[in-house]
Amino acid sequence: MTKIRGHLVRISMEMKGNNFKSKKPWGGRFKQETDRRVESFTSSLAYDRRLYPYDLAGSVAHARMLARQGIVSPGEAEEICGGLQALGEELESGNFRFDESDEDIHMAIEKALIARIGKTGEKLHTGRSRNDQVALDLRLYLREQTDLILRLVAALKKRLAATAKKEIEVVMPGYTHLQKAQPVLLAHYLLAFWEMFDRDEERLRDCRKRIDVMPLGSAALAGTSLPLDREYAAELLQFPRISRNSMDAVSDRDFVAEFIFAASLLMAHMSRFCEDLILWSSREFGYVEISDAFTTGSSIMPQKKNPDVAELIRGKTGRIYGNLIAILTVLKGLPMTYNRDLQEDKEPLFDTVDTVIAAVTILTEMIDRIVYLRPRMEAEAELGFTTATDLAEYLVEKGVPFREAHGIVGRIVAYCLDARKELAMITLKELRGFHSVFARDVLPRLKAASSVSMKTTSGGTAPERVAERIREIEQGE
Ligand code: ARG
Repeated sequence: MTKIRGHLVRISMEMKGNNFKSKKPWGGRFKQETDRRVESFTSSLAYDRRLYPYDLAGSVAHARMLARQGIVSPGEAEEICGGLQALGEELESGNFRFDESDEDIHMAIEKALIARIGKTGEKLHTGRSRNDQVALDLRLYLREQTDLILRLVAALKKRLAATAKKEIEVVMPGYTHLQKAQPVLLAHYLLAFWEMFDRDEERLRDCRKRIDVMPLGSAALAGTSLPLDREYAAELLQFPRISRNSMDAVSDRDFVAEFIFAASLLMAHMSRFCEDLILWSSREFGYVEISDAFTTGSSIMPQKKNPDVAELIRGKTGRIYGNLIAILTVLKGLPMTYNRDLQEDKEPLFDTVDTVIAAVTILTEMIDRIVYLRPRMEAEAELGFTTATDLAEYLVEKGVPFREAHGIVGRIVAYCLDARKELAMITLKELRGFHSVFARDVLPRLKAASSVSMKTTSGGTAPERVAERIREIEQGE
């Protein structure tokens, strides 16, 4: 009896050992089970499961390449691809049962494949490491997301250009130091943001070129002795280029940092636009009315209508900058080549992608429904000596050196302030008291609309220049 019992105990211990070994693909050299706390500390499954479509696509390409090279048989590749397809459907429908003790999505899928198709599934990881696998997945994911963001930014630009065209006649005060400076067209203001978003688009396109490089075949760090055809896998996955150095390929996350930087500037531009909208929607400015659908109320003050959407875009920008610093800091001290630190690339990246997509989408919708309060903008454009520079330029036209003209107009402004007058209220007689060259033709120059119409330098705010730019934009330049 004792003997039988001992035998049973031994068998159950062996089973335990076997279970343990089958649980961790790398279990071979380990004698003890992973500490539960270590399991949860090292796991990325909670967030990297979103990579599953790319992981599956990469594995299908890898399996097909292995078959083409005779490393697995065509039948085995069929079986693997069929198994991956079935897992894809499970994952898609939400029926896939994740085992929280799996380290990451790559392990979870491989384990499920082996459970589904048996021994053949164990051939998938031939000539591959999770190091090149995760780099591949991330590139496939980011390439797709970048394309989506590019489409969203294009839509935002289109919206801005359409609004500029619609509001082409509206004159408003332009600011420097948040002090009234010179009158400008609202359309010119809107197109300033068009230019910023255009640069963002260009930066993302440029960054996409470096995302679009295939690392698969680099294996752990050195490449592999198995006869892989990397070009073929790249072709299947539609990569125009393959990485040229396996050590670089498994440790390179430049494309993540670059993307987050491009996203940070895009957020900065949206944040600046939102900041203006927040100011302009205040009673103090009164330049715009943001649609009710894009504002919220107060739980205590019944009169309030708050520009929370704009504020949150501004606020979330801070978090994206944080993500940029996070990835740059992860990268700065890494010894070659892959280190587990690199797993920390994902949360900042995913958060950035999600936030940028949400922010661009909602800003585009919000812009669509902003009402620009033209009478108030135009009235304010006339006030606060916004045409003082035009007055100085008038004197220059009459032969007065600019520095002298600047001094004369400065004194006129001081005079108006004392007399509690706006520039537009001043008479020719008063002006002539400051300089004899002032003639009747100076008076229309003190109007905001005339000031704007005279800014004809290329890139200036004159209506014909702005209309020209709108035409260029419409024609795709
Ligand atoms: N989850 C890992 C990551 O995101 C996958 C690569 C793991 N590689 C390794 N050698 N442990 O980086």
